[in-house]
Amino acid sequence: MGGDMTPKEAAGRRAAEYIEAGMTIGLGTGSTAEWAIRALGERVAAGLEVKAIPTSETTAALACSLNIELTTLAEVSSVDLTIDGADEVDPNLNLIKGLGGALLREKVVASITEYQVIVADPSKLVDRLGTKAALPVEVVPWAYPLVARGLKERGSQPALRLQAPDIPYVTDNGNYVIDARFPAGIDDARTTEHWLNYLPGVVENGLFVEMTQLVIVGQDDSSCHLLNKS
Ligand code: A5P
Repeated sequence: MGGDMTPKEAAGRRAAEYIEAGMTIGLGTGSTAEWAIRALGERVAAGLEVKAIPTSETTAALACSLNIELTTLAEVSSVDLTIDGADEVDPNLNLIKGLGGALLREKVVASITEYQVIVADPSKLVDRLGTKAALPVEVVPWAYPLVARGLKERGSQPALRLQAPDIPYVTDNGNYVIDARFPAGIDDARTTEHWLNYLPGVVENGLFVEMTQLVIVGQDDSSCHLLNKS
């Protein structure tokens, strides 16, 4: 028999329990992080005081609608706790993110986060990154053909993300996204992250290496499995 909550809701709500009064919170993007933001909204309505940094315009609008006070990178230099989703999670808690297009702001916030909590359902767990999801790469629009060629030369299969036929998807930062398939998966995430960001025209890529302390995996029965960074 299943529980009352979906795995995504169970994970999101559990993550929101880690939030304490006075914290600066990073708010992730996607349908699983949304559950955590809604649970935070309930706690704010009950009197909890926190400040939050959103990782996308969609998340900022949701947080505003829930009366969660927002802050900016001009006002804070570190974030106590970030709750975000992921597209793939490997056994070392390295991630692929960016299917929702928010990878750049997500990585900026993660880079100044003390404790990064990832919320996911079991479908996100993989033995090897890149075996299920393509790797999103945010690129300056003008340079995307060059980046696509550079990816092909390194054995990847790049596809420009579209929002409609012949119309490129555009991120909150005004950039394009190339979804890069790696036919054999991604062997060394750290090395791949670095050479990707070294390609001129690349703004950021969706590999999150050694940035996560805890992964909360919601289950069908509304319970959660916790994967801690060893
Ligand atoms: C957003 O850019 C992504 O990194 C999301 O965190 C990711 O797509 C997870 O989304 P869901 O929780 O909706 O699966």
